[in-house]
Amino acid sequence: MNPEMLARVMFWRLAEPRKPAVRAPYPHPAGRVPLLGDVFRLSPRSPMAAIQRLGSSLGPIFEIKVFGQRLVVAADPSVVADLCDESRFAKYVGPELVQLRKVIGSGLVSADVDDPTWRKASELMQPAFSQQAMRAYHSTLADVAMEFAAYWLTKVDGPAVDVATELSRATNEMTGRVTFGQAFGSFERGDPHPFMAALTAMINQSERANIMRRVPLSTLLMRRAQEASDKRGSYINGVVDAVIRERRANPRDERNDILDVMLGASGPNNPDQISDEDIRYQVIGLIFGADATFCPPSIALYYLSQNPEIFERARAEVDRVWGPPGASPPSFEQVTKLRYVRRVLDEALRLWSPVQGFLRVARQDTLLADRYPLEKGEWVVVFIPLLHRDRVWGTDVDEFDPDRFLPERVKARPAHAFKPYGTGMRSCIGRHLAVHESLLLLGTILQRFDTVPQEGYRLEVQESGGVKPAGFELYIRRRHESSSVN
Ligand code: HEM
Repeated sequence: MNPEMLARVMFWRLAEPRKPAVRAPYPHPAGRVPLLGDVFRLSPRSPMAAIQRLGSSLGPIFEIKVFGQRLVVAADPSVVADLCDESRFAKYVGPELVQLRKVIGSGLVSADVDDPTWRKASELMQPAFSQQAMRAYHSTLADVAMEFAAYWLTKVDGPAVDVATELSRATNEMTGRVTFGQAFGSFERGDPHPFMAALTAMINQSERANIMRRVPLSTLLMRRAQEASDKRGSYINGVVDAVIRERRANPRDERNDILDVMLGASGPNNPDQISDEDIRYQVIGLIFGADATFCPPSIALYYLSQNPEIFERARAEVDRVWGPPGASPPSFEQVTKLRYVRRVLDEALRLWSPVQGFLRVARQDTLLADRYPLEKGEWVVVFIPLLHRDRVWGTDVDEFDPDRFLPERVKARPAHAFKPYGTGMRSCIGRHLAVHESLLLLGTILQRFDTVPQEGYRLEVQESGGVKPAGFELYIRRRHESSSVN
């Protein structure tokens, strides 16, 4: 096309009046009842599974109404791409996260979009979550993996173990040490450490309070529970504050963890410093954020137990890259070279993402996917279970196939088809840490143990208190007769 013609076409395009966009009503479930809305289409015990069922009949974008509350659900990669446009949409901090501020203050997860402390804290913490930082934490994480292996040797030929409980011991231990140098003794004690128990109880109470807040007199009804929760809060704050005080008093001792990065960058000479109280909440918020980390390796172990070929491929890779188990743990490079095991973990995240959705709010009146009107301040949930089973993944979306994550297949898919870590500037800061921990753990298990599932178990996923495989147990067998840890 010659330049003159190009200019004419461009002028014609600019001059062309914009066609008024077609405003479509949102699809919604049939049989909506006045006042109650779509309540009969949802299941109180497994609301996520109910939304998933609705999605398969209503399509990639739809609306649910319950007692006048409206929920717009999006799952199509192109609609999600639209919602990830930071110029038109931002993270919506929903009521659950606002309620959670009683526990984690304005930690990164729960901070408002325009909260200046979020920006300062996020900038302060970015270096603590870089690939380089992972290299620095590697020996701490690898020590925990070795302790976990020693602990599992005590389970060999014993009763079956609950996989989610066992792996959360390991990931909690990793998070405690790498976040603020706190060893929880997770492999020595039967119950969780009081710090983790108190945090879990507070989070559960926060969820209950959020559900109850519309019920008249709920504050009175929940007064006792709230008082108990406040006491737990004081205990948790006290534990973290004591560590911060001790470090401020002895700044020269190097601990190589995330708290050290925050304290180092937040000295009195830094005009952008955040207060020690904010740092305390960031620490607690990170431990809360990291809670999901045990989920992908637990789910992966289930699918590996059902797919011997995939299991053998993953194990062969560990054997090739790590060699036989010895006294020393794998190096940082040996962990990052587990490409197939990484694909196994990504496929587990695709099928059962521990975070089922994230919320996006319209910055201005706009049309979603060029059709569906949204007013400024209205929000939409990106529903991950549907997004990760969209037709762009093929016709066998419920099958466990790690090769979906071969580089060429990833490139061939829309960029926004896989979103387990959220999006944009409010996406997960801890993803590299989560991946490194999961690779270390799964690699250690494949290298050192044989695992036998209980006969007849079929994956059941618990929705409340974070997605996790419910009742999934494995018998642990020693793989190498000579296998020892130290
Ligand atoms: C498999 C493991 C993990 C998954 C699936 C996951 C998922 C997510 C998702 C979806 C978000 C965005 C939430 C939203 O938009 O409302 C998020 C945010 C966040 N995650 Fe993770 N996460 C994981 C592990 C971790 C770990 C290990 C840490 C820290 C040690 C962490 C810390 C955070 C923080 C601080 C945020 C808020 C970031 C901000 O708003 O600036 N997460 N995560």
